[in-house]
Amino acid sequence: MSNPDALIEAYRRKHPRSAEIHVRARELFPAQGATHFSRIHNPFRPYIVRAAGARKWDVDGNEYVDYVLGHGSLVLGHSHPAVVEAIQRQAALGLHYGDNHELEVEWAERIRGLMPAAERIEFCASGQEANQMGIRVARAHSGRRKLLKFLHNYHGWADELAPKGSPGALDDQVTVIPANDPALVERHLASGEFAVVLVEGGGGRVSGRVPTKVEFFQALPDLCRRHGTLLLLDEVVTGFREAPGGWQSVVGMTPDLSTIGKAASGGLAAGALLGRADVMSVLSGAAPADRRVVHGGTWNAVPISCAAGIAACSLYPGGAPQRAARAAADRFRRDANAMFRRIGANARCYGRSIVHLYLGPIDQDPADDTEAPAAVDRLMDPAKTPLHQRLDLHLLVRGVASMRGEAFCFSAAHDEAAVSSTVAALEESIAAMVAEGTLPF
Ligand SMILES: Cc1ncc(COP(=O)(O)O)c(C=O)c1O
Repeated sequence: MSNPDALIEAYRRKHPRSAEIHVRARELFPAQGATHFSRIHNPFRPYIVRAAGARKWDVDGNEYVDYVLGHGSLVLGHSHPAVVEAIQRQAALGLHYGDNHELEVEWAERIRGLMPAAERIEFCASGQEANQMGIRVARAHSGRRKLLKFLHNYHGWADELAPKGSPGALDDQVTVIPANDPALVERHLASGEFAVVLVEGGGGRVSGRVPTKVEFFQALPDLCRRHGTLLLLDEVVTGFREAPGGWQSVVGMTPDLSTIGKAASGGLAAGALLGRADVMSVLSGAAPADRRVVHGGTWNAVPISCAAGIAACSLYPGGAPQRAARAAADRFRRDANAMFRRIGANARCYGRSIVHLYLGPIDQDPADDTEAPAAVDRLMDPAKTPLHQRLDLHLLVRGVASMRGEAFCFSAAHDEAAVSSTVAALEESIAAMVAEGTLPF
């Protein structure tokens, strides 16, 4: 086995300025110098100075094909000219009026044009905030307290959204069950105590890694209706990424409430709760006092996010960006899987516009390679995290920024050159891990 630390040394040599900045960051940010749990890395992730299309560049002048894409938000690619132009124009007209403006109305109209279930829309500042608002609205509307969630679905880090049992979380009203079992959902809802069922749209960063069945999504609206429980579909990642109408249009279901963020605002900080007019009416001052939800938020519908959102949402009807992102993802998945077969690597890619990588002994000739290759516990095996982190570092030194060596998020800007250089970098990385003895299968 060659010296496994050689990679860390090579990485440090390639990133001298990032290393200096990281020393300063460690003195400031308690999460090992990172500002988001997914940006923590040993020794550190590169410090980025610029991004355009499918690529980004760090302070040391290294170029990356980027698959993090603003945590999945940039289905149009980095700095799409129409979005940048809208932001620049609006910045000159005012950053924040603290008042009503027409942009918020136009953005909401465009969102409703894409997602007809959005009879009413309430803007906020992030995806998690939208989910929190959805839970509050569902409780106020139903007069019930309990929340049903599914294992391995991600909705944010706050009190009831964090994994159940997380230190500091307030989750005594939260029940978490495995997805894909309508009878189990029914048994819980039959108690009549659940205000809301919260489920992540399929094909996302986590919901794509551990896929939820289409038939399960299709069963949920009726199950919820029969038991007086509201259904909240979290489309924070899938809204406007999987299709212009979101995951709900892909599987053909109508939730009572949906949440969006990320792609809705072209990559600026924003979120929104969308849903049935009668349910959303608890946000009105005219609602009875014991049902009324008061919603503040300095950053709700801030003009600059609205301008970016209008620009992005005006490119979505017809679905050309979504189809381009999916085509690039499909090409990558097919080429990477062919490469794994050719070199005899125990690995397989699967998924939709976010491609997931499974490392481990696997059938490499499945009938449908978009499907997940293994049972849930193997897909989520925490023992594999160090392997993926090692791969992530190998990919970074070869000019590929993946999502923690586990996933690759595609945009309309990922062209053939980007895809083929990524497959080549993946092949070299796997070969290097075999050579250094860090890939045990
Ligand atoms: C499915 C899903 N829901 C909600 C969130 C939280 O969104 P935000 O980070 O904008 O608060 C995320 C974040 O990645 C997500 O993946």
